[in-house]
Amino acid sequence: MEDLKFDSTKRLAVDYVEGILQPKPTCDTWDQIWNFQARPDDLLISTYPKAGTTWTQEMVDLIQNEGDVDRSQRAPTHERFPFIELIIPGLESGLEQANATPSPRALKTHLPIHLLPPSFLENNCKIIYVARNPKDSMVSYYHFHRMNKGLPDPGTWEEFFESFLAGKVCWGPWYDHVKGWWDAKDQHRILYLFYEDMKRNPKHEIQKLAAFIGKSLDDKVLDKIVHHTSFDVMKQNPMANYTSVPVEFMNHSISPFLRKGTVGDWKNHFTVAQNDRFDEDYKQKMADTILTSHFQFL
Ligand code: A3P
Repeated sequence: MEDLKFDSTKRLAVDYVEGILQPKPTCDTWDQIWNFQARPDDLLISTYPKAGTTWTQEMVDLIQNEGDVDRSQRAPTHERFPFIELIIPGLESGLEQANATPSPRALKTHLPIHLLPPSFLENNCKIIYVARNPKDSMVSYYHFHRMNKGLPDPGTWEEFFESFLAGKVCWGPWYDHVKGWWDAKDQHRILYLFYEDMKRNPKHEIQKLAAFIGKSLDDKVLDKIVHHTSFDVMKQNPMANYTSVPVEFMNHSISPFLRKGTVGDWKNHFTVAQNDRFDEDYKQKMADTILTSHFQFL
């Protein structure tokens, strides 16, 4: 079994599932992932990578536990929320973790909607989707590749920029991901949120989450959740900042998981030429959706 172990000095290989790039172990386990049995009381958090998944998970956990901060310290994020398609050889898979979790479960995925295991929609599960503007998503994803051995080497910023535009990154093109989930939101129990709204008015977005989850929380509890899910507090929280993951997998000295947590960091990375090229490409890829009104590149 030695060759099945994840060699943390190397990066995971990648392959395709129905045209979507994925870490190879996920591709190799695809039948099991596709046949994952969701339960009607599962709550799923779905995002394109780097959209604010971990932030949303912390909000959801605190809402479910009515602001009980001690309880949110029971385990790191990745144990509290099994990541269904994450398969790292030698470690417990997201599927095993999910199957061992008693109901009601809170789960995580980055899958585009057409690759979501059908049992989630068949069981009418509640799903929270969070989108973040693509320029900041790209920058955040680039730095995440640098520090995370579970993803391919991003190459230079210029190379990663091209890979992102071409959709040749794990979990596929950002454009199809946000549009696919947006188009599904009115036919299913999907709450669609935006990172930028969470930054602008976290309390309001927490209230939306609480209403969706079915929790009525008083103002004091809401304020407490706003505080504990602020960037500065989460950055210091070992149960929410991914420092519990061994350094061979995630090296925070290369780039911390909670890196900047701001809107507009893309301006520190995009050249003028890249920005022009991005905007032109974006206009074409997003011509068929009103979703663009939510992404202002401030
Ligand atoms: P940056 O790299 O731009 O800092 P995900 O959890 O989906 O992987 O997303 C990670 C991104 O969300 C990172 O973005 C991280 O800093 C940001 N983030 C995490 N917690 C946050 C918080 N409490 N407030 C704002 N941003 C947060």
